[in-house]
Amino acid sequence: MCGIIGVVGDADPLTTLLAGLTRLEYRGYDSAGVALVRPGEMWRARTAEGTESVSALKLACADAPTDARSGIGHTRWATHGAPEAVNAHPHVDCSGTVAIIHNGIIENHRELADDLRARGHVFTSVTDSEVLAHLVEEGRRAGLELLEALRATIQAVRGAFAVAVMDATEPDVIVAARRVSPLVVGVAPGVTYLASDVPAILDRARVFYAVNDDEIVRLAPEGFRAVDLDGAPVRLRQLSIDWDLETAEKGGHDDFMIKEILEEPGAVRATLLDRRRLDGTIAFDEMRVDDDELRAVRRVVLVAAGTSHHAAQVAKYAIERWARLSVEVDIASEYRYRDPIVEIGTLVIGVSQSGETIDTIQAVREAHGRGARVVAVTNVVDSSLAREADAVVYTRAGLEISVASTKAFVAQVAALELLALRLAQLRGTLEPDEVDALVRGLGALPALVERTLARRAQVEEVATALVGARDFFFLGRHVGFPTALEGALKFKEITYRHAEGYPAGELKHGPLALIEPGVVVVAIATDPTLREKLLSNLAEVKARGATVVAIVSDDDEVTEAVADYLVRVPVTEPMFTPVVDVIPLQLLAYATARLLGRNVDRPRNLAKTVTVE
Ligand code: M6R
Repeated sequence: MCGIIGVVGDADPLTTLLAGLTRLEYRGYDSAGVALVRPGEMWRARTAEGTESVSALKLACADAPTDARSGIGHTRWATHGAPEAVNAHPHVDCSGTVAIIHNGIIENHRELADDLRARGHVFTSVTDSEVLAHLVEEGRRAGLELLEALRATIQAVRGAFAVAVMDATEPDVIVAARRVSPLVVGVAPGVTYLASDVPAILDRARVFYAVNDDEIVRLAPEGFRAVDLDGAPVRLRQLSIDWDLETAEKGGHDDFMIKEILEEPGAVRATLLDRRRLDGTIAFDEMRVDDDELRAVRRVVLVAAGTSHHAAQVAKYAIERWARLSVEVDIASEYRYRDPIVEIGTLVIGVSQSGETIDTIQAVREAHGRGARVVAVTNVVDSSLAREADAVVYTRAGLEISVASTKAFVAQVAALELLALRLAQLRGTLEPDEVDALVRGLGALPALVERTLARRAQVEEVATALVGARDFFFLGRHVGFPTALEGALKFKEITYRHAEGYPAGELKHGPLALIEPGVVVVAIATDPTLREKLLSNLAEVKARGATVVAIVSDDDEVTEAVADYLVRVPVTEPMFTPVVDVIPLQLLAYATARLLGRNVDRPRNLAKTVTVE
């Protein structure tokens, strides 16, 4: 998983590449590199300085040629080969004439490398990617044009890739191709760009195009042309982009995570906006599955990873309760390896903020292949997941940059609950006035989220008091359970403290053995119908010496008796509580991570978008 960028025809390609790499760091940041080309000469610099790799690269480029007009750049998240400079991209062929950058995994790299070595090629890294440089080299030696050499290369490889190639003998050309991993092309007068995503080149290019699977593009200063795997010309689809660079910046905050948490009211509001017709019907404009097909749904399977998986788990409760449909929630990376059952009437919903998570895309592909209708719930317009699905519901949370997903979660829960209500409408499992009341309840959420955020100080006090603790359990019941899982995920990923989420009733079946003085139990206790049972669970941990932090509603007068710390949130309809209750959990993780001096936006070992299996 990595970020790639390239430019041809630029008066200052290095500045463009370094600026783009900074914006691509969310895709990986354990090493970085650039290559610049001028006639007959390839110049390359690579660094492996962990989170400082791009900064280090800027220094390493002090003696870069100033007359180059084209270049490629890469920021890496290591898969094959340690995060060392020798494994950083760009990789070159035996002669140093061809340079490549690659995002993805070449699954048959071992057999290809053995073959290439047998033909005399010398490898200098232990990456899967380097085979691409040598395969292109083979094509060039056989007299193929650069585009044809890349086309032959991708015909030989299995796996996922967005790859870009330069050749010092053709300094004004870059060729690139994709399969699974994302790739966009951008155009401005006299300059042509490529990147893993639009924000990397948003301030440079004017018009953007999506490259589809198995398409190969040839970029030159005056524009680009594209062909498919058979060499036939193809037209790339123009993307409609309505972001400006401002939205990709921190907006005056210390880091993206807090900016994005504070954007949550807007994320929920935008996601719910304009989803109802005058007759009360819930409508998703992007939906391309018609009402009869949705009415015929007999079973729902949600596939997702990480935070999106927790939002999907909330959706299970809502769809089962309101639409009376049987729902399964699958970890996306497990789905296709267990011979899943897809019957007539199975609706598969793929949930992904980025729309680029390979596990979720592959799960959805598997479901499609087995005949399921597929709906994508994603935050990124025209993302791979959106294109893979029969229908899309867009969360409108805006660009999310921090590795820890926050505003995407609340937007996903809102979108999925609205979808659950649409299914209920179609199936007639709720009365119209019940749907009305629930839609009004959803509509009240942005204001409740705002009120919760305004109480940030109470969470900061808890974080300060408990910053020395090392073990945290997050407990909840009903939709409080996925909320607890999300709280634990957020906490562990940015504080590096041990944190686990559990259904509160499950603790006594084993994990209770871990409870002792010093352990912190964070309980989601906002559902009045389950409060008594949860209080019993809290009494159990309290009796064993745990410190209890309880997230409670404003009207709760009883939980105080068993809690060491109370965090109050506004009263919310139980099914909507995850949207409100997750906020103090996100803030607790954030405040603790800051106190511990962590890099909250770029936690160690992680990347924003996981494009490898
Ligand atoms: O883009 P996606 O929603 O598909 O990403 C899924 C997970 O990789 C993501 O939610 C991850 O768990 C976050 N870092 C959690 O904060």
